[in-house]
Formats: sequence, structure tokens, C-alpha cells
Amino acid sequence: MKIALGVTGGIAAYKAAEVLRVLQDRGIRVQVIMTRAAQEFVKPLTFAALSGEKVITGMFSPGEEHEPNLDSAVEHIAVAQSIDALVVAPATADILAHFAQGIATDFLTTLYLATTAPVVVAPAMNVNMWNHPATQANLEILRKRGVKIVEPGAGYLACGMVGQGRLAENDAIVAAVLEVLGASHDLSGETVLITAGPTREKIDPVRYLTNRSSGRMGYALAESAARRGARVLLISGPTSVTPPGAAEVTRVESTQEMRDAVLHLLPQSSILIKTAAVADYRPKSAAGQKIKRRGPMTLELEATPDILKEVWSKKTSQIIVGFAAETENVLENARQKLLAKNLDAIVVNDVSREGIGFDSDRNAVTIITRDDVVEVPETTKWEVAQRVLDQIVKLRQQRKSPVKA
Ligand code: PMT
Repeated sequence: MKIALGVTGGIAAYKAAEVLRVLQDRGIRVQVIMTRAAQEFVKPLTFAALSGEKVITGMFSPGEEHEPNLDSAVEHIAVAQSIDALVVAPATADILAHFAQGIATDFLTTLYLATTAPVVVAPAMNVNMWNHPATQANLEILRKRGVKIVEPGAGYLACGMVGQGRLAENDAIVAAVLEVLGASHDLSGETVLITAGPTREKIDPVRYLTNRSSGRMGYALAESAARRGARVLLISGPTSVTPPGAAEVTRVESTQEMRDAVLHLLPQSSILIKTAAVADYRPKSAAGQKIKRRGPMTLELEATPDILKEVWSKKTSQIIVGFAAETENVLENARQKLLAKNLDAIVVNDVSREGIGFDSDRNAVTIITRDDVVEVPETTKWEVAQRVLDQIVKLRQQRKSPVKA
């Protein structure tokens, strides 16, 4: 696992050395990037010696001093693609503003725009700068974008004032990094079977019935579960998104094929998460040849097999989690599905809302178990996946703990 650690220009820059050391102790490779201002507080040599890697200090001469060349000009792209997370500690008000507004003026700000990896920022600054509406507005933008913010602590600040603004403790920063990396390994020993994407029901050799599912939600769950130590079996309907490399992927098209794959893999699984948007109906019979245009036509549909219902009759001790895509009476319908399909949990999203759910990088869900309701306001699908897996870990712990008399 590899992260980029951005160090920006504040008195707390020296504390980044300790963050670096703790992350390395966890087996994480760290590429340090220092802004020009950070280099006024700490010399790059300190981080180079600790990390064992060259420190990136500028856009066109990323490492040690040398003539700008093409390699260095595109290094931010290479770094962006190779990291599992971007962490900035300490993060100044200035870097938060650059990130929030998408202004790329140096290596770190360009890397932020170029990477799709999760981002963690640990701000540190003067209390008035922290409380300023501009800083708070920038933080809100970043929060909504899914950036994890490790809030600064309160106390005496280097500027002599008292208040919030001190870089958070190492433990809090490292915990946030491990969380976005899904590196807590709380799913080790589990085999998680995940379905993702749509199904396609054939009408004739060139046409089919389907829906707008992109597979992103299921893929985010698959990637997070793998990072949290699980073996991941992913059954995917047809999508154009690349599935996570760590998952063992079975490709299917129709609901029938998805059903067969789920029932085949269920016995080797300890957890099933059914994120797929499965067709409820399919043409009663698919035409052998392309249907010719002949005025109005009627397509006779029949119900597809309800995979989750079949799973119930075959399951042993697996934890079973369904998803529900609703457009009205969202919570009530989801609760009914939880009971009707005998699930341990259901994750419901209101897919009538703009910008979330189907074919988006973002979602907002409610996770309902038999005795818990957890709201996850709009965020990235990666973050939603973390919250769903947290609930599954909780369900697992409840099953393990002895029942009180
Ligand atoms: O793929 P994305 O673009 O990232 O979008 C994510 C999503 C919107 C598809 C996802 O978040 C979601 O809501 N998935 C469930 C969609 C769905 O089919 O919901 P449903 O309410 O129709 O079905 C309820 C549950 O029954 C689901 O777990 C479904 O997999 C399962 N089902 C449905 C029909 C069927 N024949 N067999 C089933 O097992």
C-alpha cells in the first residue's frame, strides 16, 4: 500500500515526520511532497531520510535538483495513479482553499486534481483562520466531495492564541488514513460475495431490457472489503467500469445467470451483499431473430427468479445484506423488503434524487438492520461502502457475543 503525504507550510510541519513514521510502521509506503512554504519550516532531507524515498519539492524538479524534463513534468500523473490515498498533514488554510476551488499551482494541488484516490486532510492554523467563514466554507465543499477531515484540536497555539487550530494527534490522523485505506483488516477471515451492476434480459439477438446501474456501488464495496482483509467474490452484470483487481470476478448477463452464480458461490461465502440492480421482469420468450418493425407490438413479460428469496432457503450462517432502490415511501418500503426477504440488513437509496444512486460516484443511504438505523448523508460511494461494512462488522460481532439470559 502506498500513500502520498503532503506537508504544507505551517509550524506543525515537523509533526508530519512522526505521522510518516507511524504510517511506515503499519507497512505503508509513503511518498512525501513538500510545498515551497513547508520547506521553510523543515528541510526535505529529514523526510527523505525517514521515508527512504526522494521528496517531491516542486512541479518541474520533483526530486533532487535537476533540469526540468518530460518525466518530471508528468510525474504528478504517475504519482496520482500509484497511490491508495493522498494525506495532507498539516494542511494550511491556503491548501484547503486551493483544493476546494480546484486551483492547481504546484505539485500538491495538481496531484489533488489528478488523483482519484481518497483524500485525508489534517488542518492546522491560527484559531481565527480556522473559524473564518472562508475556511469553513472551503471545508464544507471538501467534506461534501468526500474528503476526510481530521479536525484540529484546541489549546495553546504556536501564534500565542488559545483555541481550535492545533494539528490533530497522530493517532487520529493515522486512524483516518487507515480507515480510507480500509486497512483495519476487520474483515479478515471472511469471504464476501457481492453482486453488482445491472442484468440484461434478452428481447431478441440485438435488444434487451436493462437499467442504469453502473456497478460503481458494488465495486466500491468489493474494493473496500478486500482492503479490509476479506476474500471477495464479485458477480458482475455488464458494465463499462473496471472491477477492482483484488476481487475474483464472475461475469453474468441475465438474472437467471446471476441467480445460478450466487447459488453456486454462496456455500463458500460468509457474507452476501446484493448491490446488483436485478431485473424483476424478463420477456416471456426471446425472439430467435431480430424483431422487424410492424407497427405497435406488445412484449409479454414474466417475473424473474427472486434471488434473495432463494438464498434464504439455501443459506447456512451467512450474513445477508440487500440493497433497495426506492422512489417513494423509501424507508417503509425498505423495511418491508428487509422482512419479506429475511435479510440481516438492507441499504436503501432514494434513486429519485438527482446526482446520487444509479450511475454516479455519489450516494446517500439509510442502513436498516433489525435493531439499528444508520443515516449516511450524501457522500462518495467509497465512504458509503465503509459505513455498510462497518454495520456488517457490527452484525458479525453481535453474532459472536453470547446471548444474555
Ligand atoms: O450500480 P450503481 O450505478 O453504482 O448504482 C447503485 C444502485 C442504485 C444500483 C444500488 O445502490 C442499489 O440500489 N441496488 C439495488 C437495486 C435494486 O434492484 O433494488 P430492488 O429494490 O429492486 O431490489 C431489492 C433487493 O433484491 C436487491 O438487493 C436486489 O439485488 C434483490 N433482487 C431483486 C430482484 C430479483 N429478481 N432478485 C433479487 O435478489
